[in-house]
Amino acid sequence: MKILVVGSGGREHALIKSFRLSPLVTEIHVIPGNDGMAKEALCYPDISWKNFETVVTFCTNHAIDFVFIGPEDPLVLGLTDFLRTRGIHCIGPDQEAAQLEGSKIFAKIFMQEAGIPTAHFRIVDSVEQTLEASKEFTPPYVLKADGLCAGKGVSICKNLKDLQKVAHDFFEKKIFGSAGQRAVLEQFMPGFELSYTVLTDGNKYISLPIAQDHKRLMDHDEGPNTGGMGTVAPLLIPTDWNEKIQSRIIEPTLNQMKNRNFLYRGIIFVGIMITAEGPHVIEYNTRLGDPETQVILPLIDTDTAQLFCDLAKGKLMPFKIKNISSACIIMAAEGYPESPKKGILIHGPLDLENPSQWMIHASTKKIEGQYYTNGGRVLGCVGIGSTLKSALTEAYNLASQINSSGLQYRKDIGSKVKI
Ligand code: AMP
Ligand code: GLY
Repeated sequence: MKILVVGSGGREHALIKSFRLSPLVTEIHVIPGNDGMAKEALCYPDISWKNFETVVTFCTNHAIDFVFIGPEDPLVLGLTDFLRTRGIHCIGPDQEAAQLEGSKIFAKIFMQEAGIPTAHFRIVDSVEQTLEASKEFTPPYVLKADGLCAGKGVSICKNLKDLQKVAHDFFEKKIFGSAGQRAVLEQFMPGFELSYTVLTDGNKYISLPIAQDHKRLMDHDEGPNTGGMGTVAPLLIPTDWNEKIQSRIIEPTLNQMKNRNFLYRGIIFVGIMITAEGPHVIEYNTRLGDPETQVILPLIDTDTAQLFCDLAKGKLMPFKIKNISSACIIMAAEGYPESPKKGILIHGPLDLENPSQWMIHASTKKIEGQYYTNGGRVLGCVGIGSTLKSALTEAYNLASQINSSGLQYRKDIGSKVKI
């Protein structure tokens, strides 16, 4: 089997590691990939997925069996539709369904129509309108840019003064350009956050193990929001929470997708807040989470290449889950998330091959045999063990062997879970 992965981060590296476990796989190609995954897959730093025609030619020339599109941008820009009309199988929703992630306003209206529990909201497009609408909410205020902002478009404002400043940044300073021209002002929901992921062929679905991410930069959930600083899985939750998530969120989401005739062969990853009134949707993602993927894939006890190849062709096959745990510690560059320092030398077991520790490269560059930081989230140290405690020990043990000036990581991943 020959697979093309689109993307260049930690999620894509984890996919490659998982696909490499399959005896069926003969070639894994990545557009563009990164230097840290180049020993495990063929990377093409000079090919851009933005040129859809080039991707089609690549797939034809390399007899690719299916394409796994990792990040949201190609989905929102319609790469799946383009590939499918050219007879190429791929994982992902069609462009319209990808709006569930690409537009917060689209997602909110979708949920409102389907009666899916989510925070009360108003659509706003100016500072004045935001302040006027704020009267319907209690602080802290949550303001979300409508479009994709690389995980930076959500601000939690403790008071009206902060809200006014953020609204000014969105609508007058235009820090997110057209993605922040309109925004969703929504009620803050206190609660327990989790990442709920399902595979779907657009009709049926199967849940993957639940994961928990840690979005804030620093221990005890302090500091700015990030793309995710670490994950654990499986997150074991009471059966009635799970039943409510499925009956109040996942099933109505799928029904509404069917009503709208979406073509969906891939992943729905829902950020969920368990509040006093039950589970509520924080956001939809139409792809696998990063770094959720890094802890979910090691738990799958079925050939993932075959699983996703079948799904890309429209067949959702059952899969088994191992009775083990995993944890991922993200190591981020100095200055992340505002302005990560690139080009800093990294020492440590960066090419490690070990079944209980996955060394994930999210953004590294290799120059004359040495690795350097090349982005915000640089590495993911994944530990796999029979218990969450042993998985965390493996992950932190790996992280402690990495040396690089300014590299930062949280020391409290998994601490919200009883072990
Ligand atoms: P999002 O990009 O929508 O997932 O938001 C980033 C993070 O902000 C989420 O993972 C939550 O931790 C937090 N967040 C977003 N919306 C809300 C909300 N309405 N109430 C509480 N926390 C929120
Ligand atoms: N870890 C959160 C995300 O992938 O959006």
